Amino acid sequence: MPADTLAEILAALESVCDLPYDDEPVDQLQHALQCAALACDAGSDCEVVVAALLHDIGRSPVVLAEIGTHAGGGHGEIAARWLAPRIGERIAWLAREHVAAKRYLVAVEPDYPLTPASVRSLRVQGGAMTDAEVTTFREHPWWREAVALRRWDDQGKRAGLRLPGLESYRPQLREVIGVARGTSAAPRD
Ligand SMILES: [Fe+2]
Repeated sequence: MPADTLAEILAALESVCDLPYDDEPVDQLQHALQCAALACDAGSDCEVVVAALLHDIGRSPVVLAEIGTHAGGGHGEIAARWLAPRIGERIAWLAREHVAAKRYLVAVEPDYPLTPASVRSLRVQGGAMTDAEVTTFREHPWWREAVALRRWDDQGKRAGLRLPGLESYRPQLREVIGVARGTSAAPRD
């Protein structure tokens, strides 16, 4: 694991500032911050807040430069590969499954609202889950968090919101990095 994981994660997030988020009216960093704020508002635990902040980190140029796209699986899989050694399996799994959670929600809530861009990407991602896939998805211990994150993902696209910035998430990032390292001592900046 890199020595300064906190700085590395912040740099990866900063690299998506001003990058377009499909056709949505926010850039990728604004989207990440809106998702994290929604997770906080819902009273989520620290790992889920960080997962909301980092779920699209697989789109970051910094992450893509390290992981590459050769292994396939899209930005959720790329995010999971990058995150797992840095901040643990739960956050990595939630980032990976935010795509599957959309397929789940569309299957169980036929009127689930998606933006036109999200409808287009759903086709590429395989469309709604089958009944068997829904059953398998619900067997995972963290499936509810994945679904909650997905709802924030689809809500976190509002233009013009003023929210806490990236720096405000340092405490949560320090905590999850410390847990992933198996130490109670949070890493210094
Ligand atoms: Fe997203």
